Amino acid sequence: MLKYDSTNMFSPQIGELSIKKEDLFLFKNSLFDKNLLTFRNLIFNDTENIKSIAKNIISKYKNYVVVGIGGSDLGSRTIQQSFKSISGVNVLFIGANTDPNEIEDFFKKIDIKDTLFNVISKSGETIEIIANFLYITEVIENKKEKVSDHIVITTSTKNTTLESLAKNYGIDILEGDASVGDRFSVLSIIGLLTAAVMGLDIDKFLEGAVYIDKITNSEDPFSNEVLMFAELQYLSYKNFNKNISILMPYSKKLERFGFWYRQLVAESLGKKVSKQGKNIFAGITPIASLGSTDQHSQIQLYNEGPNDKIITFIIPSDFESDIKINTEIENVKYLNGLKFEDLIKKEFLATSISLKENNRSHGTIHIDKIDEFNIGALFYFFELSTAYLGEMLNIDTFDQPGVEKGKEYMYALLGKKGFEEQKKHLSKYIDER
Ligand code: PA5
Repeated sequence: MLKYDSTNMFSPQIGELSIKKEDLFLFKNSLFDKNLLTFRNLIFNDTENIKSIAKNIISKYKNYVVVGIGGSDLGSRTIQQSFKSISGVNVLFIGANTDPNEIEDFFKKIDIKDTLFNVISKSGETIEIIANFLYITEVIENKKEKVSDHIVITTSTKNTTLESLAKNYGIDILEGDASVGDRFSVLSIIGLLTAAVMGLDIDKFLEGAVYIDKITNSEDPFSNEVLMFAELQYLSYKNFNKNISILMPYSKKLERFGFWYRQLVAESLGKKVSKQGKNIFAGITPIASLGSTDQHSQIQLYNEGPNDKIITFIIPSDFESDIKINTEIENVKYLNGLKFEDLIKKEFLATSISLKENNRSHGTIHIDKIDEFNIGALFYFFELSTAYLGEMLNIDTFDQPGVEKGKEYMYALLGKKGFEEQKKHLSKYIDER
């Protein structure tokens, strides 16, 4: 189960730059209807198809490689880091970067014969993915293997470059949900296939999300924890210009969750224009931190730097580990018998108290343990709070014109057909002599 403790977001605990209970509001937004959120539909989907694809993959391959970037990659990475593969299949990643050193090193380490690449791109046009696809096909052919035995494609757009390449090679195409944006797609085939290939219980992920969905029907933040989280972020931003949101799990297994959160918040809430087309330059800057590691790199800034941040901790109650310190050495005897689980919890507590004494807003999400149910609940908690925040900020949460612009300029620079105008426009910045 998941519980959001917001005590240290409020006055008087956190001094004057914090929210008063009476500042909270009923979220009566006529435009906000949870039923219209396309990512919400995912959590009620049947998962049989994903399970049967995974079963087939597990029976044939030792390595399953996710080739994706942004929302097609970060959810799977989060899942891969949070869990052990029960099926024995290794989940690996390539494609989220075009760094030649990374690509070269990766292919030195894997045996193509045992490997399936899932090339994921919602748009079917992303250059990093097309480039990696072409390179992967070459590596497979050099090993005298059949390309279609080692690649599947996951996409949700028709008539794209990726689709035509896939057809060329007779590669199987798995269909993503076209109505759901990449960064909201982790609870679809995009993230759940990775989980299923690892042998995890994917229905439990959805059960966790449905649990959150059920407890978020109220428009009153005191009866809706996700709304409480969103309102506290929004009011801190609006009233005190606290425009930096730090997610700091105290669990190495959740480090990557912070990277997933970073994309969700950055791309969803960083917008130039309001819904009415007015320039407003909205945005909350997300930062991914890790406890206890970043107590020794970031906490100095969070405690004593500008009071422009909100920190959200995530901590499991049960780390499911019994390892402890055994020592009879006199000056460290106070540590004898200390379980690491209790050590990390005390570190969290000490950090929280130090922040409180410095009047720094912070909240904590408690989960009982890291399992499929709670990870599903966490994904949905942040998806829904981001959707609430987008409405409060009066922006389109689900577009990403700033990403698209960069993509277009890249195609133009590379000479892709159809981008001649952009190329002309860019020539003023580039010395082509
Ligand atoms: O959320 C987004 O739209 C982007 O960050 C995409 O995730 C990223 O650009 C990859 O896009 P695609 O899945 O279409 O290849």
